[in-house]
Amino acid sequence: MKFTAAITAAVLAFSVHAEESSAAAEESSTTSSSIELPTFTPTTLKSSTGFIEQFTDGWEERWKPSHAKKETTGTDEEWAYVGEWAVEEPYVLKGMEGDKGLVVKDKAAHHAISAKLPKKIDNTGKTLVVQYEVKLQKGLECGGAYMKLLRENKALHQEEFSNTTPYVIMFGPDKCGSTNKVHFIFNHKNPKTGEYEEKHLDAAPIATIAKTTELYTLLVHPNNTFTIQKNHDTVREGSLLDQFKPSVNPPEEIDDPDDTKPEDWVDEARIPDPDAKKPEDWDEDAPYEIVDEEATKPEDWLEEEPLTVPDPEAEKPEDWDDEEDGDWIPPTVPNPKCADVSGCGPWTQPMKKNPDYKGKWTAPYIDNPAYKGPWAPRKIKNPDYFEDKTPANFEPIGALGFEIWTMQNDIMFDNIYVGHSIEEANQLAAETFDKKHPVEKALEEAEKPKKDDKPKSPSELRFLDDPVEYVKEKLDLFLTIAANDPIQAMKFVPEVPTAIGGLLVTIVALIGIFTAGGSAPAPVKKAAADAKSKATEAKDKAAEAVSTGAENVKAEANKRTKNQSSGGHCATPPSSSAAAASAAGASLPSSSAPAPLRESRPSGSTGAPARGAPWEDWRTEVLDWEGLLRLLG
Ligand SMILES: *[C@@H]1O[C@H](CO)[C@@H](O)[C@H](O)[C@H]1NC(C)=O
Repeated sequence: MKFTAAITAAVLAFSVHAEESSAAAEESSTTSSSIELPTFTPTTLKSSTGFIEQFTDGWEERWKPSHAKKETTGTDEEWAYVGEWAVEEPYVLKGMEGDKGLVVKDKAAHHAISAKLPKKIDNTGKTLVVQYEVKLQKGLECGGAYMKLLRENKALHQEEFSNTTPYVIMFGPDKCGSTNKVHFIFNHKNPKTGEYEEKHLDAAPIATIAKTTELYTLLVHPNNTFTIQKNHDTVREGSLLDQFKPSVNPPEEIDDPDDTKPEDWVDEARIPDPDAKKPEDWDEDAPYEIVDEEATKPEDWLEEEPLTVPDPEAEKPEDWDDEEDGDWIPPTVPNPKCADVSGCGPWTQPMKKNPDYKGKWTAPYIDNPAYKGPWAPRKIKNPDYFEDKTPANFEPIGALGFEIWTMQNDIMFDNIYVGHSIEEANQLAAETFDKKHPVEKALEEAEKPKKDDKPKSPSELRFLDDPVEYVKEKLDLFLTIAANDPIQAMKFVPEVPTAIGGLLVTIVALIGIFTAGGSAPAPVKKAAADAKSKATEAKDKAAEAVSTGAENVKAEANKRTKNQSSGGHCATPPSSSAAAASAAGASLPSSSAPAPLRESRPSGSTGAPARGAPWEDWRTEVLDWEGLLRLLG
């Protein structure tokens, strides 16, 4: 409770700038504009080998939503794909008249839909081209926008398409917090065992998070090279053989599992010198400190004066009743006579460091003459070794699908091409993306709020309208994600950590002082104590101000344990029910330390965070959560 309140208060105090851009764009998207829109005409391109989808009339014949249960490992829950799909025109930054696309309609829900290909696509010995448009009408803070190319399977039931349906390739944007990737994953069949394994592109490029239409293209050539393009620009290229993890081909040699370290192997490089002896004159018992015999009592020391005296200004309260309240004793104050002298009271000689102090004797370390160096098992031929020279020969593709979870709805997919011809893909883009993208960009530019004529940003208005609700939403989101991954949470809802950062700026120095402990000189201690009491005060006020908000958060988080779930890839943040449950717990830390926030260091998170992001400043500021908690508690 305490901690939640502190965060919430900090949010109240410091954070009002959130979502400015996105909200602004939404507001103004209805007000456009004089720009002439091109009109959509269905393509006349008839690919003989590939598949083209523009979501024109009759799309329902091709695309079937799934109502499968989503299977999760390790828990009993099953999640149904309840998310709705629609085919409609965009309502944000519409760049073409009459161009409908497939739209993800529900937020925080699992969606799955697929289309069977009229003819399976087998790219053996051929180039594979995968291209489609993504338009994030509400931006994307956490969600997937990738496409799956499903393994040909006569028995594929589209209504049962789920996260476990075997796929050949998964390609496209996936974002949640610090993870922002254009995934390229392929399933590779181990020729020895027949088992499939996902191969993930290492250092995947980042997705463009924009409300304009963005075009994603993947090319895989028969020579195992691949190219990923965003809006026709190459953003990543390489080979299937050396850019994926785990690597397609296993190592030829491995450590011999039967080789064990010999009993007598010596791997201590340095040892205490066995020949060293404690010197005769080394006195281990000499004390660290001794009385300073040379010290003399300062001239002005007032031995007869007490350190404190009854406050001469104190008066017995009028309503004091000696019989009921006992004898009245005035409070004491520091003896004013001691203020300007070296000291009062009985004088004793101070302690000083003992020059003969040596402490416990230990032998010095020397190089170990028996040292054999670090042990490593011998290498043997890998019994599981194989070499696949053509991983680019994927298994035949029988269907396409979208199988995603997202926090933001109204993601639109359109103008899909899967086939063998770069020319065909380019032609389709020329008729659609190339025409509407510049228009959308122009609209976006025209709708940008002018810097100087903003009376209030929409988020400010929202904030003023209902601050508790505003903070509640932010904090709610933060805690839910923090339960799963605190680092994601900091990225995903930067307002919260930024706000904590703001609060901390005032007290961060304190943590250092408290950690330094008793060695701080008196005036510093005094300052620290003052600041501490201020911090406590702020904390209490915060608790008052937002207790309803925090309560609501708790209720919300509890609710979510019912309808949130996990997913196959990283855009599925609040993962298992356990995590969700702990989110509920985290929103009302009844004791002290909120578990999800404890770990404040990011550890090997993927997509490199933008330098100077608010959370990052914050992260470097908060060096010691424990210290902070001690302080607040
Ligand atoms: C692989 O094939 C593509 C398409 O033919 C070609 O552009 C590329 O240069 C080739 N790369 C290598 C390394 O041979």
